[in-house]
Amino acid sequence: MTAKTVPVDTFDLVIFGGTGDLALRKLLPGLFRRYADGQIPEDSRIIGVARDKQSNDDYRAKVNEALASVVGGEPSLQAKLAPFLEKLGYHALDATKDEGWQAFAEELLTHGDRIRVFYLSTSPSLFVDICTRLKAHGLNTGKARVVIEKPIGKDSASAAVINDAVGSAFAESQIFRIDHYLGKETVQNLMALRFANILFEPLWNSNYVDHVQITVAETVGLEKRAGYYDTSGALRDMVQNHLLQLLCMVSMEPPAAMEADAVRDEKLKVLRSLRPIDAEDAAQLTVRGQYRAGASNGGAVPGYLTELGRNDSRTETFVAIKAEVDNWRWAGVPFYLRTGKRLSERVSEIVVAFRPVPHSIFEHTAGPVMANKLVLRLQPDEGVKLWLMIKDPGPGGLRLQHVPLDMSFAEAFGVHQPEAYERLLMDVVRGNPTLFMRRDEVEAAWKWVDPILAAWETLREAPKPYTAGSWGPSAAVALIERDGRTWHEDAA
Ligand code: BG6
Repeated sequence: MTAKTVPVDTFDLVIFGGTGDLALRKLLPGLFRRYADGQIPEDSRIIGVARDKQSNDDYRAKVNEALASVVGGEPSLQAKLAPFLEKLGYHALDATKDEGWQAFAEELLTHGDRIRVFYLSTSPSLFVDICTRLKAHGLNTGKARVVIEKPIGKDSASAAVINDAVGSAFAESQIFRIDHYLGKETVQNLMALRFANILFEPLWNSNYVDHVQITVAETVGLEKRAGYYDTSGALRDMVQNHLLQLLCMVSMEPPAAMEADAVRDEKLKVLRSLRPIDAEDAAQLTVRGQYRAGASNGGAVPGYLTELGRNDSRTETFVAIKAEVDNWRWAGVPFYLRTGKRLSERVSEIVVAFRPVPHSIFEHTAGPVMANKLVLRLQPDEGVKLWLMIKDPGPGGLRLQHVPLDMSFAEAFGVHQPEAYERLLMDVVRGNPTLFMRRDEVEAAWKWVDPILAAWETLREAPKPYTAGSWGPSAAVALIERDGRTWHEDAA
């Protein structure tokens, strides 16, 4: 099967922070793949902006280097590299000073009212300056869009400041708040699975679902992001955005249509139905952890504090939470969330664990009748597994077995799945905000997270230590086992 590529309209994309890590590791490789795939028209332009002075050629050389691993030895990609680099330009600008902005605006406006995307891959502290200057220099034209990255604040109040600032220069319909988890193939497939099949939706409620687990486990540690990460921690870095967005996709009501506001309205309802966790429940319902030295990816790794070079940080690198969605559909169904750095393996998955059958007709020699599970794996090996009970094949009496009906996307479709950023960048160009967070969603997510942060502040407990390469602190296992359940382990 081949993937169908629909070209987008010609555009200019300006990346503020064009020499930064995100630009070089994700955005430019993503754009290159889309170009190589024929999705980006030839007269489009990509302009890197940063403070340092350098020529277009210097910038192209830097991007060329960053693309080396993407191109590899693949001749079809090699052939596309030079024409892609030709589309690149560079502009030195200081977001906090007016100097150079007029010339920058004039250069952009030479191409009339084409689609212009401004990607703010910078510290949020520069968002106000950049947006104000874009507007002041006439760059907020009809087809302009602005993309902002997390962290959108560190709590409700600071998120409102950022949203107000960006909102004062651009209309909400022009603002694309990116959460790259929404661009992952399986997340969109979850919508297809739920709403393009009759099988699951009748069972998708507290009558048939026992609980849901959402795990985003990483093996990496601080990755040179100490400055940001230590002021953030796993709750702000991962739960407030990625895990809550996944929770919304699993639990929202069917939207009336696959349209941006219809989908986002449903997600918002979920966020507003999350049961608040305050100081009284936090000790019971949340677990914070921080990794110590151990082994990861086949080698010894230092603990968080050593990596950080300080021994007084209480920042959590792991968090597990028992959440509940207080609405008609999900009353009484726990949503167990966990995420952490330096865990045993890199795996992100959503597990919908169904209730057991009400009565077993089988003799005890048949073995236990295990409950069905639907496992949606986001990474690695994207795919879906539906765990079913079947009869152990062959003679020798009726014995039951729990086996997965396995659909690995790579095997089933044999195509390169575009990375999340590739897909989302093309959605921005098309002006489709369905997979981006609306202001009220971001704010509702913070409203649930704020009291947890406040509770942790009140409790003043140090994060629980866990060994790098493990599955987190034992308290996270206790969190779910207390309820007579266990974290899913893929035995197949
Ligand atoms: C980012 C977080 O949003 O997501 C990082 O800031 C994290 O800390 C990353 O490593 C994980 O993304 P992915 O796509 O590699 O699972």
